Amino acid sequence: MSEKILVIGACGQIGSELTMKLREKYGNQNVIASDIREGNDELMNSGPFEFIDATDKASILMVIHKYGITTIYLMAAMLSATAEKQPKKAWDINMNTLLYILDFAKEKIISKIYWPSSIAVFGETTPRIDTPQQTILEPATVYGISKLAGERWCAYYHQKFGVDVRTLRYPGIISWKTPPGGGTTDYAVEIFHKALSDGKYECFLSAETTLPMMYMDDALKATLDVMDGPKFDTYIAYNVAAVSFNPKELTSEIQKHLPNFTISYKPDFRQKIADTWPQTINDSLARKEWSWKHEYETSDLVSVMLENLK
Ligand SMILES: NC(=O)c1ccc[n+]([C@@H]2O[C@H](COP(=O)([O-])OP(=O)(O)OC[C@H]3O[C@@H](n4cnc5c(N)ncnc54)[C@H](O)[C@@H]3O)[C@@H](O)[C@H]2O)c1
Repeated sequence: MSEKILVIGACGQIGSELTMKLREKYGNQNVIASDIREGNDELMNSGPFEFIDATDKASILMVIHKYGITTIYLMAAMLSATAEKQPKKAWDINMNTLLYILDFAKEKIISKIYWPSSIAVFGETTPRIDTPQQTILEPATVYGISKLAGERWCAYYHQKFGVDVRTLRYPGIISWKTPPGGGTTDYAVEIFHKALSDGKYECFLSAETTLPMMYMDDALKATLDVMDGPKFDTYIAYNVAAVSFNPKELTSEIQKHLPNFTISYKPDFRQKIADTWPQTINDSLARKEWSWKHEYETSDLVSVMLENLK
């Protein structure tokens, strides 16, 4: 049976580019985009689209039956900074929807799931440099708690019911096509827009706040790679890493292209979140087991961001 894919949360930062990549690979008509809101023209005009509220199990099921969906990419979520403002709602979106989808797979209504986790599963007690695959997981944010609980639910359904669910722990994702959705690493996208429009940027994290980051194309490649190939014997929410930098270092890279660009710092509540996250990630398991390799270094992503946003 050929794959019929449903992307839930297809209009977000990652979903909109992921959907286009999947359409390229599987054919436009085989990839159904869905969200509670409309996406950009490219997404809306290139293939099927359905309005779905991910917290409404019945409407997801209806779309699954309508198209004969085999695989779901569950990208709908409330991100770290937004979730802190609406903890219960964040839990509802981030958790209940995952459980619906896992149940659909358990009941063999669908056969495969992609569900992204995040470096937010780590916390203050985790080693912050070269953070290992297996380590202390004591997240301090609602978002991190939901990602950790989600990972454990995926492991449970995989082990107990044989559900094929695959997960990457994304770092901060940097892209230019769609704005970011309310995360703690969003500064590393905003900075490019402001550098070009205003020549200056006020950063909500401090100069020395180092965080792991990845350019969108690498994130998409990692996602497609982990979804290809046979089912894993054990569920692992893989660490994946590319680059790490702080706002000061990113500024220096941008100044190589825009020498007059200046940055100032006004840390807000997101600083506290960032302070509990790793600075660098050890992703040797992903590199060994499914040959994960990133392409974009910091200088590459700075060039490509400025080039495309110009
Ligand atoms: N962007 C990052 O840097 C990053 C890093 C780590 C993990 N992730 C994870 O990747 C996934 C996608 O992230 P993103 O950056 O694209 O997020 P985003 O906020 O840009 O997009 C999320 C999309 O989900 C939709 N959505 C929200 N509630 C919904 C609902 N009830 N029903 C249907 N759709 C709904 C939104 O409209 C939005 O289009 C999330 O699980 C996120 O936690 C992202």
